[in-house]
Amino acid sequence: MLLSLLAGLQADGVVRLGIMAERVHGLAPGLYSLESDGRLKLLHAKPLANELASACLGQAWMAQAALIVLVWANLPALELDYGPRAYRLAHLLSGQLGQRAYLAASALGLGCCGIGAFFDAEVDQVLGLTPDEHLLYLLAFGPVRK
Ligand SMILES: Cc1cc2nc3c(=O)[nH]c(=O)nc-3n(C[C@H](O)[C@H](O)[C@H](O)COP(=O)(O)O)c2cc1C
Repeated sequence: MLLSLLAGLQADGVVRLGIMAERVHGLAPGLYSLESDGRLKLLHAKPLANELASACLGQAWMAQAALIVLVWANLPALELDYGPRAYRLAHLLSGQLGQRAYLAASALGLGCCGIGAFFDAEVDQVLGLTPDEHLLYLLAFGPVRK
């Protein structure tokens, strides 16, 4: 449910979505991109949770999450289409996605925490993004420890 909801939100192609699956029933751990038709495409299976948490100002708790949703964009390409407002648009859409992800998590009885504190170049490198792609936002999901 969560993934199909998020896949629909990237239909305009402004931002791209991916997930880092760590502890998801029926899904092998790894980094996936979420394609516009809702399919998950494995980008690589290397465990990255600790490296990602380290690039997010050492927020070690993130590595405990079952799933991390990643939002990124190709900013130079967006600027060709939207001009100087591209950067703002990409962040506004990331925020909308994040709010919907929080709602979906609540509906599923899961915890969700948006993460905006990260070292830009480091997270891009950990995720293996191309030089023009930049991570905008990420959200950690999972059962909340009682
Ligand atoms: C844009 C954005 C960035 C955030 N970045 C972080 C973060 O880097 N680390 C963190 O622990 N929480 C982060 N949060 C989560 C907030 O600290 C807070 O838990 C969340 O907004 C829910 O607020 P509440 O707990 O008062 O309901 C972020 C939230 C938002 C909306």
